[in-house]
Amino acid sequence: MSKTIAGFSKLSKSKKIDWIVDTYFPNSKNTKAILKQYWNSNDSLQQLHDEFIENTITNYYLPLGVAPNFLINNKLYTIPMAIEESSVVAAASKAAKFWLERGGFKTKVISTTKIGQVHFIYKGDFEKLKQYFSQVKPKLIEETSAITKNMKKRGGGIMDIDLRNKTSDIANYYQLHASFETLDAMGANFINSCLEQFAKTFKNEALNFNLFSETERQIDIVMSILSNYVPDCLVRAEVSCQVDELSENKNVSGKAFADKFIQAVNIAEVEPYRAVTHNKGIMNGIDAVVLATGNDFRAVEAGVHAYASRHGKYRSLTHAKVEDDIFTFWMEIPLALGTVGGLTGLHPLVKLALELLHKPSAKELMQIVAVAGLAQNFAALRSLTTTGIQQGHMKMHLMNILNQFEANAQEKETLIDHFKSNTATHSAVVEALENLRSNNS
Ligand code: MEV
Repeated sequence: MSKTIAGFSKLSKSKKIDWIVDTYFPNSKNTKAILKQYWNSNDSLQQLHDEFIENTITNYYLPLGVAPNFLINNKLYTIPMAIEESSVVAAASKAAKFWLERGGFKTKVISTTKIGQVHFIYKGDFEKLKQYFSQVKPKLIEETSAITKNMKKRGGGIMDIDLRNKTSDIANYYQLHASFETLDAMGANFINSCLEQFAKTFKNEALNFNLFSETERQIDIVMSILSNYVPDCLVRAEVSCQVDELSENKNVSGKAFADKFIQAVNIAEVEPYRAVTHNKGIMNGIDAVVLATGNDFRAVEAGVHAYASRHGKYRSLTHAKVEDDIFTFWMEIPLALGTVGGLTGLHPLVKLALELLHKPSAKELMQIVAVAGLAQNFAALRSLTTTGIQQGHMKMHLMNILNQFEANAQEKETLIDHFKSNTATHSAVVEALENLRSNNS
């Protein structure tokens, strides 16, 4: 039976587990053992993980895989991917190999500006607010100098602050809309600290602005927060080759492959039901690298999907064309990533993942992540428009089903062999395993 508890966060880890077990698993003998088997035997490593969040009771493992052979702007990479979904890493590796033999991926960072906003309510004359803003703007920048000093030294900082009138959407609603360059940091803490300082200065200085009436002086700050919509923090990834080079076997010409592939992309450009799945496949690659490198995949997801809808309709993030016999497949996406700060210096596996990628700058990481997304989409569309995806998926899924039914090594070997020439649906695998067991008993 569920019940409430006061002061849970103050309990020790072991008392927290006791409460969980007593409340939700009173009849279970192994709940504690399941939780504890994921604890790290190295106490300080476990403590590090415990302290990433609050109320930690155990660790949640995801596999960390690698996809080798990615040639990006003529440099080779092995890309780390943290993901639970079978066949994502295999698909990335296949796409990497395919394009390795055709010149590799070409990428370019288009822009790196990030946005933050102070949302506020002002009840008064807009002209006076404009005058106040132009007077206070230098002070807004000045009073953040302790926060921005280091970032400025390295060439980043606050780029600009605008006053935006949003009263046509909500009565008396305005914004300070600020842009930032945060270099190798994702920049969330930096941006939010600047914004909170802007808000303080903006509210305080208004009290002394002599053109304001008493009501106008009372600026009401609603909130100060960065935006995860970063359409001006944009990266492009692309592959291209002669159409003939796309053919891998005599049965399908390069042209037939390209035509069908482009049709599949075009469908995702116009049909939102398809576009969402198409883009989900892109995010399989993107999220896995974002997670492995200690970045915020929720921020990336939110920003990317908003970008996919920027024309008022949800669309494909990738595009494809044939021109002068050259097949080109490309994507431009917003990615706010960091290679310093946050988890990057803390989580041992994140450090290792970044070292594997030759310690990239944030700009380099944007390019690698975009490539992982483009490669994933290429692999998905290639399967979907030729063999279908179930063939590859079920091969990987077969192992998951066998593990779920605790197949031993001998059973695995027999059934992997059996399903080389039979379709591996869930029920077929279960049935084959049952048959095997009853024949052997
Ligand atoms: C599965 O995780 C992703 C795909 O559905 C993507 C797609 O359909 O393009 C295969």
